[in-house]
This record gives sequence, structure tokens and C-alpha cells, in this order.
Amino acid sequence: MATGARAGAATASAKPAPRTTGTSKTIKLRIGRYRPERSDEPFYQEFTIPYREDMVVLDALNYIKERIDPTLAYRWSCRMGICGSCGANVAGTPKLTCAVYLKDVKRSPITVEPLENFAVLKDLVVDIEPFMEKLASVDPFIVRDEDKPIERGEYRQTPEQLDMYRQQSQCINCMLCYAACPVYGHDPRFLGPAASALALRYELDSRDQGSAARLAAIATEHGVWQCTFVGECSVVCPKDVDPAGAIQQLKARAATRLMKSMLLPLATR
Ligand code: SF4
Ligand code: FES
Repeated sequence: MATGARAGAATASAKPAPRTTGTSKTIKLRIGRYRPERSDEPFYQEFTIPYREDMVVLDALNYIKERIDPTLAYRWSCRMGICGSCGANVAGTPKLTCAVYLKDVKRSPITVEPLENFAVLKDLVVDIEPFMEKLASVDPFIVRDEDKPIERGEYRQTPEQLDMYRQQSQCINCMLCYAACPVYGHDPRFLGPAASALALRYELDSRDQGSAARLAAIATEHGVWQCTFVGECSVVCPKDVDPAGAIQQLKARAATRLMKSMLLPLATR
């Protein structure tokens, strides 16, 4: 698996471009490629494609795949900033490729690479398994001391209670925050931004009673205390989840719980 720096270059021999309506402009993209079945060495490949003002980076990738090189591998699904699957480094910054217009990238060629800090499986496709394990580690569900039978009704919330965790619940698991996080780049065991934001989402949910176990799980050697508050995770987050802020809130909660457990050991069991 490749994990980062790329070397070499190749130029695609494109089939003739199709007729375009309205403009004959072209644009050049430089795509990070990795073909483990052929070589251990990642490389860059340049493509020149017809350009339209309304094209996003994902449109360019789709054009290349449909018209030039069907072997190009990348993820996408919704094309509207919801599924979180299309993340890549665009001109050096983690972005949703469906949400970046080519016209807004002020570099030429436009370099598109796999997200940093993840093992590359093929071309722009990275291994999401470590990320999924981190999400699962924070008990991302409502924990109750005792579940009440469904016939006794739902656990209702007021709009104010819902607003408490609305921001953290906007996360689409796109992993851009992990690609931007220097701490995660240095220590892959770090719990990281999105999993921490998810933990806070349940901490702030009035229906949840799993705080003790959750805070114990995140206040560990590789948990929230590793965060040095660089803040890049919140800068790149496309949903304004503010994972950096979430981690600082969790630190305060974990510290408060620790103090309480020392002063009132019976009350915090
Ligand atoms: S916190 Fe933001 S950047 Fe991180 S996975 Fe969620 S939506 Fe993506
Ligand atoms: S394709 Fe779903 S977020 Fe980009």
C-alpha cells in the first residue's frame, strides 16, 4: 500500500475529446495514481480535458474515467456533499471533490491526490477501516441504564435539547479532518477529530446515559489529550462540525469527571 509521497510522471494518451457546447477551453489535471497490481511505486498522470465553468473536480474525474481512462479509481456517490465518500487532496488541501469548482482552484495543473494520513488502496481510494474502528470505539449510540419497552413510548426531546448536539450530528464521515490533522499523521492511534465530535454528540444528547464509559474510553493515552489544538480539522470540515472545539469540550468534561471521581468517588461510579 502507498501512503503519501508520489514520484514520477506519465501523460495519458487521450482519445479524441467529444464535441463540447459553448466553449473550446481545456484544463489540465495531475492525478495521483497507484496501481498495486502493477507496481509498488505511486506516480502522477496528467490529463487534459474540456473545461466548463460549472465543472467541479468530481466532474473532471468522471470525464477522465468515462472518456480517457476507465481504470481510474476514486469514490463518490451523492454528488451533493452528503455521502462523504468523495474526499481527496485538491491542490494540497483535503476537499470534497463534488464541492470544489475547477474555476476556484487557482493552480494549473490541478493536482488531485488521495487523502493524506491513510493507506492508499488504489489511485484516490484510501483504506477507511482504521477510521471506522475509531468511530465504533466511542459507543456511537444512545446508551440507557435500562431500556424501556417500546409500548411505554419514545424518549422525547424538546427543540432546545435537539439543538444541543445538532452541530456535531452534521458530520458526514468524510475523513477530511483526519487528512488535515498533524497529530493523527504522527500517531495513527490518536482517536482523532470526527470520532471525538461523535462522542460529544452523544454526550450532549439528553437521552444518553453512557457518559461514564464513553469519557473513560476517550480520555486515554491516544484519546483527546493528544490533541494540541492546531485546529486544521475545523478549517477543512465541510459541515462546520468544529471537531477541534468538540475535543476541547471533551477535555473539559473528562477533567471535570476526573476531579469529581477523586472528590466524590461514590457519586461518579
Ligand atoms: S468532522 Fe467534518 S471533516 Fe471530519 S469527518 Fe465529520 S464532516 Fe468530515
Ligand atoms: S459525492 Fe457524496 S459528498 Fe461528494
